[in-house]
Amino acid sequence: MDWGLKNRLSRIIKPSTGKAVMLAVDHGYFLGPTGGLEDPRKTITPLLPYADSLMLTRGVLRQCVDAGSPIPIVLRVSGGNSILEEELSNEDMTVSMEDAIRLNVSAVTLSIYVGGAHQHKSLINLGKLVDEGQKYGIPVLAVTAVGKEMTRDERYLSLSCRIAAEIGAHFVKTYYCEGFDKLVKKCPIPVVIAGGKKVSEMDALELSYRAISDGAVGVDMGRNIFQSDAPVAMIRAVRAVVHEGYSAKRAYELYTAIKNDKKNKKTNGRMTKAVAAPDFD
Ligand code: R5P
Repeated sequence: MDWGLKNRLSRIIKPSTGKAVMLAVDHGYFLGPTGGLEDPRKTITPLLPYADSLMLTRGVLRQCVDAGSPIPIVLRVSGGNSILEEELSNEDMTVSMEDAIRLNVSAVTLSIYVGGAHQHKSLINLGKLVDEGQKYGIPVLAVTAVGKEMTRDERYLSLSCRIAAEIGAHFVKTYYCEGFDKLVKKCPIPVVIAGGKKVSEMDALELSYRAISDGAVGVDMGRNIFQSDAPVAMIRAVRAVVHEGYSAKRAYELYTAIKNDKKNKKTNGRMTKAVAAPDFD
């Protein structure tokens, strides 16, 4: 791997632990003002000190993140669809590599839709993005998007992750599933998990713990952090699982302690109530 590409990847997957806590706030690219992200700057700012990297669109990056921030950026570069469309797989590239470089990103990311109506286009786009990434030393994160009617089992997710790796993605984001350890063994690139729909804090910490135990290098979590009652407490608890090997129970105790700590109350990052906004999966 070229030095520049390796260097950028090491900003996301921390060499000290070999793990990554990525904060995903790119939902608006097809969901618009997702619950908890109505005002992205307010939601993101208090969480930045606890995230290793931030996954988002260029619009939110330019408008809502200070250019002086040291946070490594994983830039979403695919889109072209919305939640109003039944078939979500019809995505194309929405950002040029030139603009990604101008934004000084640490990685670029796009969704692939294995088995979807537009599978071919998404996989060819991944190949083109990897070619561009190789040219400029920018790592590519493939996100295995799941069509509405697809089962998220080990067989399907292993297929998607392996295809992403074969085409040349440098790391892949997928969902946790039963038999996740087998998926990781069959995937020659690092795997991070998405958090998925909001569940209880304990369940989200349990999910993180199982994923790490099964070989994931980290989490790329969104709603289970920013829709939490105490987002800062939650990201710090997730961090403890990923980087410090906390059990879910111990991390939940940490979450509760930070949430209830008077000093932290004002800065817990709870800015907006998660309202009934469009959601997916
Ligand atoms: C997937 O299409 C996007 O990257 C999502 O924004 C991301 O996967 C969501 O993260 P989470 O499921 O943890 O909210």
